[in-house]
Amino acid sequence: MSVVPVLTIDGPSGSGKGTLARRVAQKLGWHLLDSGALYRLVALAGARCGLGLHDEAGHAELAATALIRFSADAAGEEQIWLENEEVSREIRTETAGEGASRVAAMPRVRAALTARQQQFAQGPGLVADGRDMGTVIFPDAPLKIFLTASPDERARRRYKQLKDKGFDVSLAALSQELAERDHRDANREVSPLRPANDAELLDSTGLSIEQVENAVLALAKARHLLR
Ligand code: C5P
Repeated sequence: MSVVPVLTIDGPSGSGKGTLARRVAQKLGWHLLDSGALYRLVALAGARCGLGLHDEAGHAELAATALIRFSADAAGEEQIWLENEEVSREIRTETAGEGASRVAAMPRVRAALTARQQQFAQGPGLVADGRDMGTVIFPDAPLKIFLTASPDERARRRYKQLKDKGFDVSLAALSQELAERDHRDANREVSPLRPANDAELLDSTGLSIEQVENAVLALAKARHLLR
């Protein structure tokens, strides 16, 4: 069992996990694992190698060996690197999200990423964001959050996020894509999206990010994770 404290944040697309995880990690001074980015990178690496979306062995090999790095630029903006090329923007499209959701249903890809994800647990602590952080990757985490929001609100948030990044998206198409992705994530055989038995359920519909962050920090304090 890991002695490094881990706070897991799981939930469906657009629930606000990513923003919440980043803010909480910053507040606690802990490391951050954006596990969705890893699946997005494997899908992108596969597309670049010309792998078919059914090539599980090929994607598993990439999941085990691809050179992946996270950093921040001088302004603190996240940078994500694949084989020494910056792909931060490229992996955020909904097409990349869909590719990620397809490779994420492959058991061998998930197995290859398990150890890579667990290596992010370094002192003083880790905030891990994804779908199976609390159920599979860090089952002993002292605090597990399962974050939800209504489908409409999640689609609107993701729409705003993509628009703010300069992507040309339609709300109707995005709603449909998110619904399909969530259905696939919740119904796959390996590590489906679901709350851990000991997870705290938080519905962020109608709440500001500050309110959600405060609720999580209060739980972290109650579990003695705050110094
Ligand atoms: O969180 P994000 O939208 O970046 O994740 C992209 C896709 O990666 C998800 O739709 C899901 O299929 C997959 N994923 C996963 N397990 C995780 C994180 C992401 O299956 N821990």
